[in-house]
Amino acid sequence: MTDTRQFEPMMHRALELALLGPAYGANPQVGAIILDKDLNVIAEGWHKGAGTPHAEVDALSKLPNGVPAGSTAVVTLEPCNHTGRTGPCAVALIEAGISRVVYASKDPGHESANGAKTLSDAGIEVIQGVLENEAAEQSVVWLTAMKKQRPYITLKWAQTLDGRTAATDKTSKWISGSVSREDVHLRRSRLDAILVGTGTVKYDNPDLTARKPDGSRCEHQPLRVVVGTSELDQDLRVFNEEAPTVQLKTHDINQVLSQLWDRGMRHVLVEGGAELASEFIKQGLFDEILIYQAPLLAGGTNVAVTDIGINTMADALTLEFVEVKQLGADLFIRAIPKERN
Ligand SMILES: NC(=O)c1ccc[n+]([C@@H]2O[C@H](COP(=O)([O-])OP(=O)(O)OC[C@H]3O[C@@H](n4cnc5c(N)ncnc54)[C@H](OP(=O)(O)O)[C@@H]3O)[C@@H](O)[C@H]2O)c1
Repeated sequence: MTDTRQFEPMMHRALELALLGPAYGANPQVGAIILDKDLNVIAEGWHKGAGTPHAEVDALSKLPNGVPAGSTAVVTLEPCNHTGRTGPCAVALIEAGISRVVYASKDPGHESANGAKTLSDAGIEVIQGVLENEAAEQSVVWLTAMKKQRPYITLKWAQTLDGRTAATDKTSKWISGSVSREDVHLRRSRLDAILVGTGTVKYDNPDLTARKPDGSRCEHQPLRVVVGTSELDQDLRVFNEEAPTVQLKTHDINQVLSQLWDRGMRHVLVEGGAELASEFIKQGLFDEILIYQAPLLAGGTNVAVTDIGINTMADALTLEFVEVKQLGADLFIRAIPKERN
């Protein structure tokens, strides 16, 4: 029997290659490596975004004379089985004459799954699950989105030590410091859409763009989505030319998510305010919460989360801190929902 652990170093490399592709958009980040029969690396590839060749095909394209006999493909995701804008990778690997395929994560895609079966039906040795946990962690956004058939939802806010996201006069600018704000901009540049309620647009007049530390625009700008029925002044910053914007005149957040899903969006960031964020929490529609905790006290009633339908502590939602770090003078907390025992 083949010792699957021998492929772990190559899978580590394939996972690194995957990260060279864009984190946003409809398609996953995937890396692939082709090995000759002695397990030497002879080609590398990765997926550069929707409409471009998949990682396996990208790697095969680096071998214009074809693959040598006995070659292995090491791929971070099960090769796809369907024809979208590009052909099925399982078929491309079969036609190239690959002898063995090693992959990390199973493809949860409804249309694209089952590539492994196509490969083994064609007589190719298939090994699955090499560095599966590492791959699942790296691709948690896309894998979760495909499993839930809705975008991965990140809720984010900046708060004072007493849990206020705005002062009594509704101002919220400058709660968090510059290091925290840089972190937010970097995250924005890696996802598909930023959602805010009309209240935030009216009170804060935010830009909601992704910027580099020097103030210049990031190459990728997420779609700015304003949710709510109010008629808004088109001179507000969110409607400027810096990035695309839509206003969805509804309170139905499931409808909002399904419209964004249909546009190929797999990761959305809900940036507030409290009313909109609370609605996502109330409906259990979030995968992680990011809190930028500033060493300030503001008092007043503008709390981060309002009514989420919980009246007694025994019913409080339990989360788990998965990352806590200092960002300048602030504390960054990343929490995910925890299943109750
Ligand atoms: N510290 C932070 O991180 C942060 C971030 C954002 C905002 N803020 C602060 O938060 C304050 C604004 O928050 P907010 O809670 O007043 O406003 P919000 O949540 O931004 O907007 C509330 C509005 O969103 C619309 N809406 C859309 N879908 C909804 C739904 N499912 N349920 C309820 N409302 C929905 C409604 O407007 P329509 O009437 O138009 O339908 C509602 O009045 C400002 O003071 C701002 O400075 C702080």
